[in-house]
Order: sequence, then structure tokens, then C-alpha cells
Amino acid sequence: MTPEDTPILASAQAPGKVILLGEHSVVYGRAAIAVPVRSVFARAVVRPATDKLVICSRLEAGLGTTWTIRVDGESSQEPLAVAAQAVLGWLGWDRPPRWLVEVSSTIPLARGLGSSAAAAVALVRAMAQAAGRELSAAEASELAYQAEQQAHGTPSGIDNTVVAWDRPVHFAAGQARELPLGAPLPLVIADSGRRAPTRDLVAAVRERWSGNRRQIEAIFDDIQALVDRAEIALSQGNLGQLGSCMTENQACLRQLGVSDERLDALVESALTAGAWGAKLSGAGGGGVVIALVPLADGPRIAEALRAAGARDTIQTVVET
Ligand code: MEV
Repeated sequence: MTPEDTPILASAQAPGKVILLGEHSVVYGRAAIAVPVRSVFARAVVRPATDKLVICSRLEAGLGTTWTIRVDGESSQEPLAVAAQAVLGWLGWDRPPRWLVEVSSTIPLARGLGSSAAAAVALVRAMAQAAGRELSAAEASELAYQAEQQAHGTPSGIDNTVVAWDRPVHFAAGQARELPLGAPLPLVIADSGRRAPTRDLVAAVRERWSGNRRQIEAIFDDIQALVDRAEIALSQGNLGQLGSCMTENQACLRQLGVSDERLDALVESALTAGAWGAKLSGAGGGGVVIALVPLADGPRIAEALRAAGARDTIQTVVET
């Protein structure tokens, strides 16, 4: 019998995400704003298995990377195994069940789109469901955070929060609140085709911060002021103002040293093509550039981004 022939005990899904403003400074307790991107998602399916708990992960969309993790005791340190162990702890089970948990995803990996958080949230939800329990968004976020720590070192917690809540969020110092949107947000997401390794980029900013705390803290304060302005613009549906805040945030990220010429060129091409604002999103050093756009101009701006070197673009509209 192949896995596809066995019945599904439970399944769950979690969206991708982008950070509108505040990446990196959020690691230092400043505020950030993030929104879910539902057009890409991770999915976990639980089936009965003859052996122990097996996690089978196909995260790289199209590439079919597959690996299997047996969760027995403390052995595996793979982020998804850590998430699975966290759920077992939450359930109060000291022995793993005989389940096959398959995790797949359409979210491009290591691009700042929350692929690891979404995979972990989908997995913890599906496992809880297979046990006849339901996780609240806060509980799913908390359990997935343990996998995020394993994957990224010292994550702020914004990714697992926005992905588990599936709502626009304001996040600061571990505290999140939902953000009402005054208007839907049409976004074009441009994939640079390059990885944005969060752990390395966060470490690089940490090094700069250690070397010149006053200067870097001042940049973080500038970003915080932009987040405050953006929050008002967001609630009023003032996309022009929100876009300006995003573009100013990009200038701060450049000062932090996490942008580069190719990302700057993508930002410039989006602005020249008529975007309200554009910036890198996530850790930087690669990953994605996001552009806030007038809805009707989305296809044209996406084309401009591809002409400027984006490997791929995603057009999406974020709603509350
Ligand atoms: C998260 O997508 C991006 C960073 O802000 C790291 C974090 O918040 O943990 C760079």
C-alpha cells in the first residue's frame, strides 16, 4: 500500500507572509508590520503509519526535495521534528504515535516569505487535529516558534505569529495585535531568485550593531517611526502614504547593509513603473522585493520587475 492509499486522519494549511515594514529592527524589540500571503501556502497531511512517527517533507516547490525524520525521543534536531516534538509535549504524549506526516509547500524557500514558519504551523495544526484537538492561533504560533528557533537562531517571532494568525499584525517585543486594514493591499512580490539566509543576515546586522551601537540603534529608531506612520496609513487605507513609508524603510535597510545593488535595482524599477512604494522584505541579501501598487497597474509593474531581473513575480491582494 502506498501512502496515497491510506486514509487521511487530518490536514491543515498555513499561508506565506511578507513583512511590510520593520524587519531586523523587530529583532531588537522595535515594531514591525507583517501580512499573510494566501496565494502561496504550506500544507500538512497526517495518515496512519506502520512504524513510528515519520515526517516527510517536500518543501522545495517543483524540486521534490524529500527527507524523512523519525521522531523518537530527543534525537532529531530538524526544525519540523522539533515542531512535532513540541506538539507531542502539548498533547502530553510521551510516546510518538504511528503517523506519517507529509508536509508540502508552494512557498519559495529562503526568500523571506515565511516558508519555514508556514510548514511548522501547518504541521502542528494537522498533528493536533489528528489527535482530536484544536490549537488556537496563539498555541500554533507558540509551538511553531520552537521550530523557528531551531531554523533561525534568534527569531523575533513575527513569522510564526502572522502565519498562525493569518491576519495582518503589528508585532513588537513578542507582543502581537491584529491590524485592521482601511483598504485591501495590492502587492507585487518579486523573487530575486537568490536565497536570503535569515540566520546569516541577522548575525551580520548583530555584528554591525556590536561595532557601532549608537548608529545602528538610530536606524532602528527611524524604522520604528516609519512603522508608526505606516500603521496610521494602513488603517486609513492611504496606500500612497503607506508606500512612501515602505520606500523610506528600504533606505534604512540599505544603511543596515542588508540590501544590495540587485535588490535596489528591483526597487527602482517598481517605483519607476508606478508603484506606491517598494522595498526588500525579510532578511535581505537576496529573497524578495515587495511593491505596493495601484491594482490596475499590477501586471505592468510585475513585467517591469521581471525585466529588471526578477526570476518570478507573485501578484496578490492582502485583505483583512
Ligand atoms: C523575519 O522574516 C526577518 C527578520 O526580521 C528576522 C526576524 O524577525 O526574526 C530579519
